[in-house]
Amino acid sequence: MPTYVTTPIYYVNAMPHLGHAYTTIVTDTYSRFRRLCGDEVRFQTGTDEHGEKIVEAAVKEGVSPRAYVDRISAAFQATWPQLSVAQDYTIRTTDPDHVQTVQDILQQVYDNGDIYFSEYSGHYCQGCERFLTEKELVDGKCPDHQVAPKEISEQNYFFRMSKYQDWLIDHIKANPEYITPERYRNEVLSFLSEPLEDLCISRPTSRLTWGIPLPFDENFVTYVWFDALINYLTGIGYPDGSDFEKYWSVAEHVIAKDILKPHAIYWPTMIKAMGLSPYRRLHVHGYWNVDETKMSKSIGNVVRPKELVDTYGVDAVRYFVLREMSFGLDSSFSSDAIVARQNSDLANDLGNLFSRSLTMVVKYAAGKVPAADPTSEGPAEAELKNALATMVSGYEEHMNRFEFHRALQAVWEVIGLLNRYIVTNAPWELAKDPAQEGRLQTVLYSLSEALRIITLVLGPVMPEAAAKMVTALGLDGRMENVTLAEAGAWGGIQVGTQVAAPQQLFPRLDKKALAAGSTQQAAPVKKKARKEEKKKEISQDGLVSFEQFGKFDLRVAEILAAEKIAKSDRLLKLTVLLPEERTIVAGIAEHYSPEELVGKLVIAVANLKPAKLMGVPSQGMVLAAKTTGEDGREQLILSTVAGSIAPGSKVA
Ligand code: ME8
Ligand code: MG
Repeated sequence: MPTYVTTPIYYVNAMPHLGHAYTTIVTDTYSRFRRLCGDEVRFQTGTDEHGEKIVEAAVKEGVSPRAYVDRISAAFQATWPQLSVAQDYTIRTTDPDHVQTVQDILQQVYDNGDIYFSEYSGHYCQGCERFLTEKELVDGKCPDHQVAPKEISEQNYFFRMSKYQDWLIDHIKANPEYITPERYRNEVLSFLSEPLEDLCISRPTSRLTWGIPLPFDENFVTYVWFDALINYLTGIGYPDGSDFEKYWSVAEHVIAKDILKPHAIYWPTMIKAMGLSPYRRLHVHGYWNVDETKMSKSIGNVVRPKELVDTYGVDAVRYFVLREMSFGLDSSFSSDAIVARQNSDLANDLGNLFSRSLTMVVKYAAGKVPAADPTSEGPAEAELKNALATMVSGYEEHMNRFEFHRALQAVWEVIGLLNRYIVTNAPWELAKDPAQEGRLQTVLYSLSEALRIITLVLGPVMPEAAAKMVTALGLDGRMENVTLAEAGAWGGIQVGTQVAAPQQLFPRLDKKALAAGSTQQAAPVKKKARKEEKKKEISQDGLVSFEQFGKFDLRVAEILAAEKIAKSDRLLKLTVLLPEERTIVAGIAEHYSPEELVGKLVIAVANLKPAKLMGVPSQGMVLAAKTTGEDGREQLILSTVAGSIAPGSKVA
């Protein structure tokens, strides 16, 4: 069976954050899972690079849209391997073959009479990049972006979406799995119970040139959604690639609820107008909030994937987001929550099970998986086999329905059972009594075999940890290209397999040390060392050593934005690229206006302990020279860099 699964293509007007990471991790996990089921899988992600807000972001940075989209799409691409995400294809809407196909489709739909020219006025939300209906507004504002839409009145091209309304309603009603979870299906059906308006699909080039020109009118470019949604087709070589033949009818899209309408209404009607069969399923999830408030750039509580991985490790991040969020509902991210999951579920339950079990195989069976002794098998083993079979089928069912937290719950039930099995059967007692040799072998065999099946099902969720588990179990090379149906059944581990007690699979995290900004394993060690260092920080003569100087991570920072901090005359909040985006609070408000700072390349200390200034968290410091001005007052002059250089470059 083929599987084709996609993420949204992300706008390049912002750097990747936890929300993008979540959708992409989900899609990666699902694609690995379908591969485990024996499918031929195609997993696609990408970036959405046209439109007004991209141009705005580029202008703000003082670079061309082209240079801007190249830079941010590269940042997205660099994020995926950090999250153990392995997509098969990455599409950009600026790819020439995509542009060509969008134009071909526009021409085809136009020729068929489903695109027409007309005057329109309406409420345009730039955040959504679409016109909102009167009913969608709350207090005159877009409920998602909290801004009043622009009233726009102009001549444009329209797609005859209304023509396909009845077909779409029938299709959704006849296919309960088309949009899930059910609440979103209901939401769409309720929206469709009112007459559907046609879709504005163009922008005059007098207002926007950064888009795909309409093939039938050079004075217009196509408006974002008619460009963006088509990525799902161009990525598989539509209209005549062999991948298109293979994958289109099984297409599954994964999105958050913010872009439900474009995917559940615009897209199916566009597909219908093109004469294609509908995609197979749409999976809709909720929002990640941070500490109970919505993650947003303006609040400054945006969680960056790279920082998460550096702090907690990639396995903990993937496990956490999949286990914590009920797919479809909103969830809250907090450092406490992820530390708790890592320490209890991963370090305690799973990590301990692994190390205890394999340590005993090493100790009592010379590291070789012993044969179970059929005459000594009892009800405990029957219960275990039964529980594993139930787990595997439950896991498969939940994963197929995008109920990742349920799938993981099922696995952790078995992990709990196994930990109890060890305590009840106390292999260390059996080992003392030669008459219990057969029983000891049965227990060790059962543990090893159960661990093999657990490793198998955790592969899609935590590929890195699973690879370590495979090695510890002595199964290198034996777990690739196996299917869940075969390898998920009891009895797959070969007697005599040489196992090794693993190094710590999941380190325990120290909450306090994390808060102080140090990372996982090194935390306790670092703390002590830091005390020692403090004592000899600067030697008596006031000179610093080369080594001491080397501890400062000085980097070129590009200032993206600057704003005054309320109630402070001195402080400015800077948004800088280092190369990742950070907030730095600087005491330069009396010397620089926010506007003149944007675009400047300055030197920043990148490894300064985070601190809060007037309630604003600051992650670094910018360097400035101090002098006395003509009026006798202190003056600060920022140290800038002569010449053009990439933000994040090291200053040595
Ligand atoms: O909408 N919680 O791009 P986008 C969970 N280019 N997921 C989140 C999230 C959050 N707080 N914030 C973002 C676009 N996401 C269009 C899509 S597709 C043909 C074009 C994720 O950069 C989630 O997947 O605004 C959401 O649907 C997507 O990012 C929106 O990304
Ligand atoms: Mg968005």
